[in-house]
Amino acid sequence: MILKAENIHKSFKSGESIINVLNGASIYVERSDMVAIMGVSGSGKSTLLHILGLMDRPDSGKINIMGEDVQYDDEEWLAHKRNRNIGFVFQFYSLMNELSVIENVMLPAMIGGNFNAEKRAEELLADVGIERSMFKKKVYKLSGGEMQRVALARALINTPDIIIADEPTANLDKQSSIGIVELMKRINEKYNQSFIIATHSKDVACQCKRILNLNKGMLIL
Ligand SMILES: Nc1ncnc2c1ncn2[C@@H]1O[C@H](COP(=O)(O)OP(=O)(O)OP(=O)(O)O)[C@@H](O)[C@H]1O
Ligand SMILES: [Mg+2]
Repeated sequence: MILKAENIHKSFKSGESIINVLNGASIYVERSDMVAIMGVSGSGKSTLLHILGLMDRPDSGKINIMGEDVQYDDEEWLAHKRNRNIGFVFQFYSLMNELSVIENVMLPAMIGGNFNAEKRAEELLADVGIERSMFKKKVYKLSGGEMQRVALARALINTPDIIIADEPTANLDKQSSIGIVELMKRINEKYNQSFIIATHSKDVACQCKRILNLNKGMLIL
C-alpha cells in the first residue's frame, strides 16, 4: 500500500465557532491507482490533500505512507517524505517565476541533494510534451497548459510514490484540461504512477480509475 489514511478528523476555528471539515475520512491508495476526489466547494478537498501530502496535520486519525506511520513531531522526517515520496501539482502551478523551465523541474532533486538531475529533467519535459526550445525560458512566459505540464514534470522528478494534484485543470481551458488529464493517465499507465486528483470536473474524474466523493467530511463512493 502506497498511502493509507484512516479516520481523519480536522476542524478549524472560525471566530467563536468551530467548523468540522473532515469527520472520519479514510482513503487507501495502491500502486498505479488513480483516484479522483470530488465534492462541492468548501467540502474539504484541499484540506484533505494538504493532510495527505504532509503539509498539514490532522486533529486525529492515522496516516501511513509506504508502510511508515507519519511522525508529526519529526520535521526532518516530514520534509524528507514530502521531498522523496510525494509529488504535488497545484491549481496555480506554484512554479518559481524567476527560474527557467528546466531549473523548476530540477529544483526538488536539488533540494533532495541530487545535483545531476538535468538529463532526467530533460527526459521528463519531453515526456510531458515541452519542446527543447522552451527549456531555458523563464516559466512566466509559458501558457497555463504549458506551466501545468512543467509542474507535472517537476512533481515526477524524484520518482514519488504518489502525486497529489489539487484541481490541476481548474485554471485551464477545456482543450488544455483534457491534455493534462490525458497526460496524467498516460503517466499513470506507463510508470504505474499513483495519483490523487481533486477536481470539480466530471470529465477529469471520469478519466480516473475510481471516484470518491467528499461529503459531510467523509469519503464515500
Ligand atoms: N486554514 C484554515 N483556517 C480556517 N478555515 C479553513 C482553513 N482551511 C480551510 N478552511 C475551511 O475549511 C473548509 C474546507 O475548505 P477546503 O479549501 O478544504 O475546501 P475545498 O473542497 O478544497 O473547496 P474548493 O472546491 O473551493 O477548493 C472551508 O469552509 C474553509 O473555509
Ligand atoms: Mg480546494
